[in-house]
Order: sequence, then structure tokens, then C-alpha cells
Amino acid sequence: MPKKIPETLIEEIRSSVNIADVIGQYVQLKKSGKNLFGLCPFHEERTPSFSVNEDKQIFHCFSCGRGGNVFKFLMELNDLSFPEAVIQVAKDANIEIPNQYLQQGNEKPVDPYINNLISAHEIAAQLYHHILLNTESGENALEYAHQRGLNDEIIKEFNLGYAPDEDILLNYLSQKDFKQDLLRDSGLFVVDRNGNFHDRFKGRLMFPINDISGQTIAFSGRLVQQRNDLPKYLNSPESKIFHKSTTLFNLNLAKTEINKQKAVILFEGFMDVIAAYSAGVSNAVASMGTSLTEEQLRILQRMAKKIYISYDGDSAGQKATNRAISLIQHVRGLQIGVVQMPDQLDPDEYLRKFGGEKFKQIYDGPKETVIDFELRYLKNKRNLNQHEDQIAYINDALKLIATLSSSVEQNLYLNQIAKEFSLNKDELNVQLQKMKQNQHNQYRSGKKYINKQRQENNLSSFNQAIKLSRLERAERFLLQRMLTNNEVWLKVTSQKDFHFIHDDYQTLYLLAQSYKTDHSDFQINAFLDYLDSDDLQQTLVEIIDQINYDDNQDLTDIDDYLKLIQNEAPLDERIQQKQKQMEEAKRLNDVELQSKIMKDLIGLYKQKQALKHE
Ligand code: CTP
Ligand code: MN
Repeated sequence: MPKKIPETLIEEIRSSVNIADVIGQYVQLKKSGKNLFGLCPFHEERTPSFSVNEDKQIFHCFSCGRGGNVFKFLMELNDLSFPEAVIQVAKDANIEIPNQYLQQGNEKPVDPYINNLISAHEIAAQLYHHILLNTESGENALEYAHQRGLNDEIIKEFNLGYAPDEDILLNYLSQKDFKQDLLRDSGLFVVDRNGNFHDRFKGRLMFPINDISGQTIAFSGRLVQQRNDLPKYLNSPESKIFHKSTTLFNLNLAKTEINKQKAVILFEGFMDVIAAYSAGVSNAVASMGTSLTEEQLRILQRMAKKIYISYDGDSAGQKATNRAISLIQHVRGLQIGVVQMPDQLDPDEYLRKFGGEKFKQIYDGPKETVIDFELRYLKNKRNLNQHEDQIAYINDALKLIATLSSSVEQNLYLNQIAKEFSLNKDELNVQLQKMKQNQHNQYRSGKKYINKQRQENNLSSFNQAIKLSRLERAERFLLQRMLTNNEVWLKVTSQKDFHFIHDDYQTLYLLAQSYKTDHSDFQINAFLDYLDSDDLQQTLVEIIDQINYDDNQDLTDIDDYLKLIQNEAPLDERIQQKQKQMEEAKRLNDVELQSKIMKDLIGLYKQKQALKHE
């Protein structure tokens, strides 16, 4: 284990770069007022809600809420650990980090057992490949491959092979000194009741599955002759070297092109990827079935900005596309497009039917947006010859359109629906506004509401738009001033029994206190690194990035905040308590108690009014 990088060095590295320059390498930034703005790299958006504050050296997305310093940005974007991000910034800044803090050599230690497992697969792949191309027992399979449009060049490029219908691999590998245990672990064999090994793959066209560096770690075999008692595709089981959920077929060959285009096409199957490759579309991988995983997406996210889902055109493919879209939106950071073949075809079938040129045109041309796809998907679920279904579809569609943040986009789709069903657009719009109101109400509580509001208000007036209570606003402003001005900090901490009402702010306050006892110099940016929880980091960024109109030198505003937090908040608490007592009194039918509580309540309300008018 390398030693921890000392804080002073981290500080030196942080202060030697400008966050705007680092982020500028990934995001196009434009100056607007004090901040720089751009499209958030962590989620899909058309109007910029991602801001970089050069003064404070932080970034903050008003839409997804992410924020932090330069290290956090690189950690999120490139999936790095904290020390890895520090090392990357140091490289940019030409600062040398002493060896003791670096991982010795970047490669993982080589485990000979793992190496042998991989060798067994590579040797098996070569054997299967040889059998397919050069032997009599591979003749039928070769003919099948040719029939399916796989020429010898493709067969070589993908190292395709044939596993004949008999046990051949066991002897072959045993002769090469592979031990029994290793052969069992490899997954290349099945063990029968008597403990004897047999080849797992028989009578199958073999697709080697490689890791990102091109080492073969598993196989999938397709039956050459259809049999109803056996699955069409058979895959290697999970093993020490093969984890299906973190593997993508063809990533090794496609990675350069994906990086170059910053875009990846995602297919279901082996044959689709190979078809695409033969048509000159080479930034393609397969999830190997439709159960796309988060891990697979995170791998792609490191290389690409855009992902085009190209699952089969049948209804199963559409369902899987819909699921994939939610998953990608959840993982964030990838823009989504959809390419689906007409007539329920899968991409491989389309290529066979219409040829490579047409195939390539589709992938070079415009793709469906998520909304285009979702509308089509909603439509396919209905029978539009029936009025009832038509209405249900229009309802679904409006609900979807109501979630869009840009009114231009909303308009576009509203027009589309109005035209399609010969409806009056204004009436549709009334309906849409109602739905927006509903969704808006559902967002009322919690962060989601705030973020959504910010998105809708597209920043310009977000500060007014956040419906924070007066109290919460005061807490945020006060905390902001405390953390950026030591005089304010001292003033507030000298108050007797001061505490914030909201947990998040109180936690940040306590953590800042403990940070200050270990550090002579309080740096917001270093304090960000000190916070372990993403949520707290985000809250802190929101607080220090808020526009405070009292951002001035005099401290008169501080008294107002303090008064509000110390007086009004407890008042609110007492009112709530009384209200609870009132409910209890009503439940007990205690009329006398009720009238007494009512008197107290009126008194409290009066105090509150007085505070407001002061
Ligand atoms: N798959 C799998 N295991 C299965 C079935 C399917 O791993 N038992 C994966 C394979 O990667 C396959 C993909 O899912 O390529 C899509 O399956 P399917 O649509 O059934 O096959 P096709 O790709 O159309 O295969 P073919 O054209 O050879 O029939
Ligand atoms: Mn197919």
C-alpha cells in the first residue's frame, strides 16, 4: 500500500491548477456573470445548468445537484479514487509526487493461477479456431458460418471456432500440463456423476469472449444444428476470470473507435456486433442478451459520452430498451439515442436483408431521442384504432412531455401529437399544464423538488424559485457567511447554545468545528475533501455557491439570521407542540384544556407576527 498523500501536498496541487481549465478539457464553458456555465457532463441536458465558480474553485450542477472541487470532478467523471484524482491533477500541474505515495507500477500483481486460467482459454480458442477453418469435422460449421455471412476474414478477426461433438479439449489441455483443479475452475468442462470431465461445448460455433485487453476469458457457443432440447447459445459459467455483469463482448476491438467517436453502439448479440463490424460500424459492443448491468455502463461511461441502444426490433427488444434507458439515466453521464430496426428485425437480420450500405446509413444517420422512443413504445402498447386506447395514449404521452424541462421541446412534441390526432393544440396544452402542476406538487418535498425547480427556472431566477422556508434560507446564508468569513464564525460560535435547526446544517457546522480544531487554516475546498458523505458535500456546495445578496463586508445581516434561527424557530417548534397537545385534548374531549391551549396558541401566533414585522 502506498502512503497517504500529505494534506500540504494535496493543497499545493489543488491550488496550482484552475478548476476551470481542468473542467474546460471536458466541458465547453461560457462566462455568464461571475460564473462559467456549460452542459453538465453527468446527465443529459440541453440547457446548461452546470456552473464553475472560479473564485471558490468549485463546480456545481443546479439540475442534478452534483458539486465539489477539482478532485471530486475527476473522481466522478473518470471513476477515480481520491488519490488517483490527486495524482492526475498533479500530472497536469507538473508537480512531482514522491514515489512512496504512488502505487508501485500501475499493473495489478500477476497471479499465476489466473494467468493459467486465461492460457487455458486462449489455447482452447486456438484449437476451436483451427478445427473450424482447417479440418473435416469443422466443415459443416464452416458452411453454416458462411451462410450467415461470416467470411474467413471475419472468422479470423473474431477468432471464431468450432467445438466438435466429442470430448477433445480435455486430452488436449491435460497434455499441456494443466492441473485438474484448474480445469474444473475454468468452466470449460462439465463434471458427470462419476466425477469424469467432459467438454462443456459440443457441436457449437464458438465465440471467444475477451476482456478489454483482448485476453480470452470465456466462450459462448451457438448450436450449428438446431436442437429443441438444448439452448441455442451456451455461455461459460461465472469463474475467477469471467464475470458476465462486467464484461462486454467486443470491447477489446471497439475501444479505440469508441474513444475516438466518444460514442458506443450497444447490441444484444454476438451476431449483431459482427454484422456491424463487417459493415464498417466498429464502435459496437454487445451486452450479451438484454440484461444490461450498471457495471457495464460504468465501463462505457469512461470512454464514451453517447450511447446508442440498438436492441432487437421485436417487443422483447423494445421492453429491454425501455429498461436500459432507465438504467442509463440512473447511472447518468451518458447521452442516449435509440436505433431500432424496422419490421421486428434484429440488426444482423437487417444487414442480411438490406446489405451493408443501408445498414451503415442507419447508424450514421439521425437517431431517435429518448422521448421519440418512449412515445413509440407507449403507442405500441395500445390499439390506436380504438378511441379508448387513443385517449389513454394521449394521456401517457402528455405525462411524458410534462417531464421535459425545455418548453421548446414540449412545444415540439405537443405539435406532433396535435397533428397526429387532429386535435387542438391549445386544448392539449391546457391538459399538459395541469399535469405539470400535478407533478410539481408531487415534488414539493425534499431535494428533488428544489432541483426540479431549478431546472425549470433554468437558473436565471433559481434563487427566488427555491421554495425554502425563511428559516432555512437564513440558516443557509448564515452558514455560508460563517464558512467564508472568520469574523462571522467567531461571532456566531460565541453565542450561547447556538445550534442550527436543520440536521444537515448542524452536521456541517459540527464537522467544520472539528475540522478547525485540527487545521490552522480553514479552506472550503479542503473541507470538502474532509466530508465523507456525497450528500453533505453536495449540500455544502449548494450553500457556498448560493447567491447571497448580502455578500458584503458588514455584519448587520448576521444579527437578522441569528434572531430568526434562535427566536422564530423555537417559536415554530412550540407552536407545533401546542398543536399536538390540542389534537390530544380534542381526542380526550377535554373542552377546558382545549380552550387553555387555544389561548397559548394565539399568544404564540401573535409573537410570531410581531417578529415578522420587526
Ligand atoms: N444470449 C445468451 N444466452 C442465451 C441466449 C442469448 O448469452 N441462452 C445472448 C447472446 O449474446 C445472443 C443474444 O443474447 O447473441 C441475443 O439472443 P437472440 O436474439 O436469441 O440471438 P441472436 O443474436 O439473434 O442469435 P442468432 O442470430 O444466432 O439466432
Ligand atoms: Mn439473430
